[in-house]
Amino acid sequence: MSTLIVNGVRHTLDIDPSTPLLYALRNQLELNGAKFGCGMGQCGACTVLLDGQPVFGCITPVSACEGRKVRTIEGLGNAAHPGPLQAAFIKHQAAQCGYCIAGMVVRAQSLLEQHPHPTEAQIRAYMEPNLCRCGTHMRIIAAIKEVADGGRA
Ligand code: FES
Repeated sequence: MSTLIVNGVRHTLDIDPSTPLLYALRNQLELNGAKFGCGMGQCGACTVLLDGQPVFGCITPVSACEGRKVRTIEGLGNAAHPGPLQAAFIKHQAAQCGYCIAGMVVRAQSLLEQHPHPTEAQIRAYMEPNLCRCGTHMRIIAAIKEVADGGRA
């Protein structure tokens, strides 16, 4: 048995504690925002927050999450009521295929919680572990910058 607290809700799961967090989120809890990309901690598609810090869900075992707060893209808003970052990503059309976007938004959320007004250099450095194969990085940076600047971008 493993206990996960995800987006403020406690779940008790009958799974092997070595199961990657990403699999538990997607397969057991049906939170499908975080994606499986490389499975090796190299792309960031699976990024979720663990006690406010971005982690790669594909290489983080459920056992490392006991008693800690997991947050996913689903906890940041939804289609009807997008959060500030989600709204900015939509406004700037920061997604092409969209596969990386949940991870991007989640990592950006962590950045803004720690540094509400980052410089562009700080945004670039913090977002570096997350890759976008479509090449929308400039739009992603613009969206984050807009939220960091209080919507004035
Ligand atoms: Fe986890 Fe690529 S799927 S880092």
